[in-house]
Amino acid sequence: MTEIIDGNAVASEIREDLTDAIETLADAGARPGLATVLMGDDPASETYVNMKQRDCEEVGIESYHVDVDGDASPETLYDEIAALNENDDVHGYIVQAPVPNHVDYREVIRRVDPAKDVDGFHPENVGRLVAGDARFRPCTPHGVQKLLESAGVEIEGKDVTIVGRSDIVGKPLANLLIQKADDGNATVTVCHSRTDDLAEKTRSADIVVAAVGVPELIDGSMIGDDAVVIDVGVNRVDADTEKGYELVGDVEFESAKEQASAITPVPGGVGPMTRAMLLYNTVKAASLQEG
Ligand code: GUN
Repeated sequence: MTEIIDGNAVASEIREDLTDAIETLADAGARPGLATVLMGDDPASETYVNMKQRDCEEVGIESYHVDVDGDASPETLYDEIAALNENDDVHGYIVQAPVPNHVDYREVIRRVDPAKDVDGFHPENVGRLVAGDARFRPCTPHGVQKLLESAGVEIEGKDVTIVGRSDIVGKPLANLLIQKADDGNATVTVCHSRTDDLAEKTRSADIVVAAVGVPELIDGSMIGDDAVVIDVGVNRVDADTEKGYELVGDVEFESAKEQASAITPVPGGVGPMTRAMLLYNTVKAASLQEG
């Protein structure tokens, strides 16, 4: 039987584990605080930000939110960032991507205090991660590692094929999985839109991570016998539902499930883990700042 890896259950355990640390910090007068910044009114981003606020409430993290008009100048956003950098109640914050086209997200990230960069996107934090000295592991890659661990998947020595080379998932995950560490020591292949014979690269892998943003790109014919499949994709596709769309992953679940020994569903796989690891990083930020 193929194991369906339950991201909601694992995320729930992680939130549970965090509550003690949060209360200890709060008792010492330093309740962890997370702020979200949303520029513009992208509906998917609004949903994500709302979920992050609710997660905070559930575990006892104080949450703050800053809305910036989508037509505002980059400087308006920079001013909000500078204020968050100065605000001692906010231990960590994220600027939800994507930002409007007239704003350079890289410049935004450079202005975030690296000690409060709970996304792990600031160049200093990227550098530390690559150097094997991560301060904050980016939330989705860290969530993938935790899911693999919870499913008892051996990583050391295994062939992992990551489909997607994004700065948020593919690149940091590849770096984490090759590290000399208990949750590393894998041999990693990173594929992308110019990869020759993608199917050959995925089929030969013990673990396939799909993080490419193409609905159901990876089907069962591209998965080796008894491989582990982690689907990071969250794609809105038109559908005859109340909302007019449904969420599908980068993996065609039904055919991939036939081949895999374990697989994550969408929704209910990686998504809740990303959110849980943001809480984890916020608690870490608070501990480091208050320590
Ligand atoms: N947009 C999609 N994923 C993310 C994320 O992990 N962090 C931020 N800040 N924006 C995102």
